[in-house]
Amino acid sequence: MAKRVLILNGPNLNLLGTREKSVYGSKTLADIEADCKSACAAHGFSCDFRQSNHEGELVDWIQSARKTADALIINPAAYSHTSVAIHDALRTLEVPVIEVHLSNIHQREPFRHHSYVSAVATGVICGLGPKGYTLAIDALADD
Ligand code: DQA
Repeated sequence: MAKRVLILNGPNLNLLGTREKSVYGSKTLADIEADCKSACAAHGFSCDFRQSNHEGELVDWIQSARKTADALIINPAAYSHTSVAIHDALRTLEVPVIEVHLSNIHQREPFRHHSYVSAVATGVICGLGPKGYTLAIDALADD
């Protein structure tokens, strides 16, 4: 099936490539987008890749995914650890939701160990760097 995959990225991920390279690596978000587009194309999926620094915008996009996406991959970034609004929006989706983090949040500061998104995600990938995004896309192919 030609799945419509929506990939959402939260705050500060627009700075990848320059931001804390020792934690997040040197790939930019544009590099990750290109990798995701190739991985989606290889499976015959469409790929809508977005980033926002604003919680409400992410909530709006998740709500619109109810009608326009067959799967959602989300790196909610810092909102993972704070956002009940994103948690509640994700609860309304009936499609697979895969949470991705570049870093292993469980090895980091205690405030990053809990994610409000994990409880409503179909699966979670963390600590594998940008490869986590393409692994998430590959996992959708097996559905
Ligand atoms: C992150 C981990 C979060 O704790 C952090 O706030 C981010 C990025 C990751 O991809 O490793 O901005 O989601």
